[in-house]
Amino acid sequence: MSQTLKAVRGTRDLLPPETALWNRIETTARQVFARYNFGEIRTPIFEDTSLFARSVGEETDIVSKEMYTWEDRARAQSEKPQSLTLRPENTAGVVRAYIEHKLGETGQLQKLFYIGPQFRRERPQKGRYRQFWQIGAEAIGPPSAGSESPLRDAEILEMLATFLDELGIAGWTLELNSVGSAADRARYNEILRAALVPLAPQMCVDCQRRAVTNPLRVLDCKVPEDQPIIETLPKIGDSLGQESIDHFAAVTAALEAAGVPYHLNPRLVRGLDYYTRTTFEFTHGGLGAQNALLGGGRYDGLSEAIGGPKAPGIGFAMGLDRLVLALQAAEAVRKDAAPQIADAYIAPLGEALNAAALTLARELRRADLHIELGDGAFRLKKSLEIANKLARRIVIVGEDEVQSGNLTVKNFLTGVQTKVSRAELTACLKKPAREVPA
Ligand code: HAM
Repeated sequence: MSQTLKAVRGTRDLLPPETALWNRIETTARQVFARYNFGEIRTPIFEDTSLFARSVGEETDIVSKEMYTWEDRARAQSEKPQSLTLRPENTAGVVRAYIEHKLGETGQLQKLFYIGPQFRRERPQKGRYRQFWQIGAEAIGPPSAGSESPLRDAEILEMLATFLDELGIAGWTLELNSVGSAADRARYNEILRAALVPLAPQMCVDCQRRAVTNPLRVLDCKVPEDQPIIETLPKIGDSLGQESIDHFAAVTAALEAAGVPYHLNPRLVRGLDYYTRTTFEFTHGGLGAQNALLGGGRYDGLSEAIGGPKAPGIGFAMGLDRLVLALQAAEAVRKDAAPQIADAYIAPLGEALNAAALTLARELRRADLHIELGDGAFRLKKSLEIANKLARRIVIVGEDEVQSGNLTVKNFLTGVQTKVSRAELTACLKKPAREVPA
């Protein structure tokens, strides 16, 4: 017997009724983001590999270990194959598109959101997949458009708090930090480099390498034995210049004024290289080890790092898979989890009536009713059994019914069966089944 094929490790199928929950989250995001005047951007699923190396950073776990990369065959012999990568995140693609389409020349702040799959070769576990979904947003533009203002940071954080509240996710925590300007970070990197000289030989091989190439990335290390050493390292907050301190103070003051609670976390540096100044994560207790619902921050130098104009920005991405888990954990979604029930099941009595049944179903669906269409090959008993599971009512289409124009309708909630004229059928099926006999 041949081996049955399964979805690849770390990927999964999303099936109804759970997909209804996914749709609800996406709809809420679209509604909330629209109130803040964000527009949707869709970038390609794969990009040139160098985009991620230059933005997310060569030394990050994402780029050094987790990307799905391949050499794309050249079309002509004279062409070199191109290294392509399935996007592990979407900020780099958005900033590339911002540069490519010269969006900075509008002089306006660009407020863009996206919903789509991302790919990272991580070790799969609950809440961590190799294909996962993100809902994210970026506010990016020339400094003259106010893109560096701490008000943008506070506005984005307030929008996220509003989104989670409207979705019904209670018990989130906003973890907040500043990683300083590019100059502050460079200074901190040198302080770390010096501090790591005597410590690195006792750490894992990755850390020994990072201590030389990109000391900040030592802070992402997950090896348990290295954690006590990491705890003793200098904190980035002590390396911030006055401008970064003032910027961060303005962010926290605006959050306090707006009543958005936050928790200062001086260890939050985030695992991507492009961050500057404000960085944040929203965590949720119901998620277990993978407790970050979302993460984000400023990336004031990213556009220039990939060859674009000066375009400071701030954004975030939420793990859609984790939002679903958080909602399920809260059991706030029983309604969505119920199987979808149709308004009516149309049961033709005999195959000769299939065409008439399709015509009736077409009419009712055009009137915005949810209709299941049966099959004349089924006996009435079987149709009744199926209909009882799938729909609130059954509409029987027999010879008599077609001749007389009066259809037999059975209401499964009340158990009542009556005749309803075709003219009245739409109105009848639109009435809540509980309140009326038929
Ligand atoms: P990130 O922290 O790498 O940031 O990912 C953001 C969120 O995506 C995480 O908090 C988590 O909810 C979800 N996520 C990440 N990896 C996985 C996975 N393997 N399985 C399930 N969910 C996952 C970024 O991606 C940045 N681009 C965010 C950003 C936007 N910063 C500025 N703008």
